[in-house]
Amino acid sequence: MTYLTVYTDGERPETLLETEDAAEIAAALKEIDVVLRHWQVAEGLPENAGQEDILAAYAAEVERVIAEEGYTFVDVAQLHPDDSPDWPERAAAARQKFLSEHTHDDDEVRYFVSGSGIFYLHAGGKVHAVLCEAGDLLSVPRNTTHWFDMGTRPDFTAIRFFHDDDGWIGDFTGDTIASRIPDFDTITAARAARAR
Ligand SMILES: [Fe+2]
Repeated sequence: MTYLTVYTDGERPETLLETEDAAEIAAALKEIDVVLRHWQVAEGLPENAGQEDILAAYAAEVERVIAEEGYTFVDVAQLHPDDSPDWPERAAAARQKFLSEHTHDDDEVRYFVSGSGIFYLHAGGKVHAVLCEAGDLLSVPRNTTHWFDMGTRPDFTAIRFFHDDDGWIGDFTGDTIASRIPDFDTITAARAARAR
C-alpha cells in the first residue's frame, strides 16, 4: 500500500502530511501532475521470476499503458539482498545512483511488482515522498525534479516504461535537498512505528 509523506523544502523541512489514504494521496499528487495508479498484483509469480515471466504476467496492463502513453521500450529492474560478499557494495552503489536530485527528459514510469522504494518529488515548494509497494504504478512527468531511495537494503522488482531505449540519463541539479529530507530507512521505520 502506498504511503505518502509531504515535507516543506526549506533548510529545516517540516512534515505537512503523512497518509496511507488512497484518495488523499491521489489528490496531493494531482497537484504536482503526478499520476499514481494501482494494478491487481499478479498471483503465482515466483519470487525469482525473470523479466520474461514478469512481463507476461502483466501483459494486458503493460499493453494498455503502451497504447495510451506511446512508450516503446519496457524492461524489468530488480534488486534483492543476497549472501554474496559483494552485495553490500552493489547495494550501496545502486542506491547512490539516483539518490541526489535530478531530472530526466523522459517520463519516469515504474510499476512495483514487489518490494518497495521511495520517489521524492520536489515541486511547488514541497517534497512529496511516495513510498511505492506492490501494485503501485507511478508516472512522474519528464523534467520533474526528483530523487529515488531504495534504502540501505534494496529489495524491489519494478517494470519500467521508456519512450526510447538509448539509456536512462539523470541531469543532476546540484541541490543538496535530498540530504535534508528523511531517507527510505527513516520513513519506513516511522511508518512501522505508526502502525504499532
Ligand atoms: Fe530519476
